[in-house]
Amino acid sequence: MLLTTTINGRKKELLIRDNDYLLDVLRKEGYLSVKRGCDTGACGLCTILLNGSPILSCSTLAARAQGKEIFTIENFPTEAKKFASFMANEGAEQCGFCSPGFTLTVIAMSKELENPTDNEIMHYLNGNLCRCSGYMSQLRAIKNFLEAIKNEGC
Ligand code: FES
Repeated sequence: MLLTTTINGRKKELLIRDNDYLLDVLRKEGYLSVKRGCDTGACGLCTILLNGSPILSCSTLAARAQGKEIFTIENFPTEAKKFASFMANEGAEQCGFCSPGFTLTVIAMSKELENPTDNEIMHYLNGNLCRCSGYMSQLRAIKNFLEAIKNEGC
């Protein structure tokens, strides 16, 4: 089938098979920030935004993106760089393999939740696993990041 979608603001027409998953289609198209981890919908490494909401591309058929907007971390260089600095300041950034999916989820959360509690933050991120760092340093980094962007009014 012909998939008509938008990836990072660019209209795309891609020839796909009915049973192709978004993860495979995006990586084939060169969006290598979209990582394959568990491939079973359990780790969050393959997270992308579909119409602004985080989804797991390893378990979403590419056909579901028909007529929709896809965003990968490549679309958010400024936010990603800023968030990475907050993660580094808290010692929460280690191997970086989970960072694209994790950062996209934080960006989506920053647009969706206003003044989230610690529990709301942890609930929003509970599908994004990190095998390197403890989650408390990440939580501190996220709270500092959310506070900073709130103060900047963006
Ligand atoms: Fe998709 Fe793990 S690779 S959730």
